[in-house]
Amino acid sequence: MSLVSGPGRGGITDDRLPHELRLFVDKHVCYIQSLDTRKDELEYWLTEHLRLSGLYWGLTALHLLGRPDGLPRNEVLDFVMSCMHDNGGFGAAPGHDAHMLYTISAVQILATLDAFGELEERVGGGRQKIGQYIASLQDTTTGTFAGDEWGETDTRFLYGALNALSLLGLLDLVNINQAVEHIQECANFDGGYGTSPGAESHAGQIFTCVAALSIAGRLDLVDRDKLGGWLSERQLKNGGLNGRPEKKEDVCYSWWVASSLAMIGRLHWIDAEKLTKFILNCQDPELGGFADRPGNMVDVFHTVFGIAGLSLVKYAGLVEVDPVYCMPLAVTKRALGKLK
Ligand code: FPP
Ligand code: ZN
Repeated sequence: MSLVSGPGRGGITDDRLPHELRLFVDKHVCYIQSLDTRKDELEYWLTEHLRLSGLYWGLTALHLLGRPDGLPRNEVLDFVMSCMHDNGGFGAAPGHDAHMLYTISAVQILATLDAFGELEERVGGGRQKIGQYIASLQDTTTGTFAGDEWGETDTRFLYGALNALSLLGLLDLVNINQAVEHIQECANFDGGYGTSPGAESHAGQIFTCVAALSIAGRLDLVDRDKLGGWLSERQLKNGGLNGRPEKKEDVCYSWWVASSLAMIGRLHWIDAEKLTKFILNCQDPELGGFADRPGNMVDVFHTVFGIAGLSLVKYAGLVEVDPVYCMPLAVTKRALGKLK
């Protein structure tokens, strides 16, 4: 049976499938819904510094599973807005300092909920404020971006800036050409990209650089065959993908590697069925959620990237993901379409 063509709509919960090929949709939905009700557990408080991104990961996973109403919309919106600062940036949780990574998550959640109108109602000029905060983090000497006013620069922040600004329709607030030049400086002889010029190729950074080039309309700058070759070598015998040579496989690289391959039209260079089986093996079939590799503890980060990886390889019944944004394709089409 082909996993990629799959058993047809609704097949993901099909109990006629052999156990190792089943996606436990209802368990994953319950797992994500339970995350905010665990305030008596230490782990809940240990992950407070990630909360807004955790909400983006959980909400996106629910949308890809076809359960867009799995979290209460108004409560999600109230939480997002409670993380906003006067300068337009967002912190991980109320009272936390503003940072680029949480500001991207906030924008992604607002776009997913189609809530930019409500943003304006709650904070007059909110869209512009967010855009100005992000634009203020561009390094006008190198073209790249910092995570906050103190932090180091990194291609993660450059990508985040272009992701959020494009969804807000405010790309013209920054110098795109200079950002593109910076990405080219991060390109390595092996076809990959690193976190800054001279840094080794890493699949996570490759995702950020290729996705940023895609948003900038400059994918023509990528050496697709060379990069596709490096990325396809990331697949190990067990079907999983690693992020660099000699590293172990990890479910989140099902996203960073496979989305990069998808953006450059080379996703067929890896074995989708073997990857599908590896990802499904990382599920907790009892309590839901995905771990980085089989048998480990699940978390919401690996849950969204496992499900998004399955969506990329067209696992039957899942909603289609946008490889550039890691959001449902229908959501990015709607958000970007409104701007035209
Ligand atoms: C590996 O991280 C992944 C990266 C370096 C890319 C991270 C990208 C972002 C945070 C931008 C926002 C992303 C989206 C999808 C909106 P790691 O620290 O796990 O690397 P390691 O495996 O080397 O530890
Ligand atoms: Zn991981």
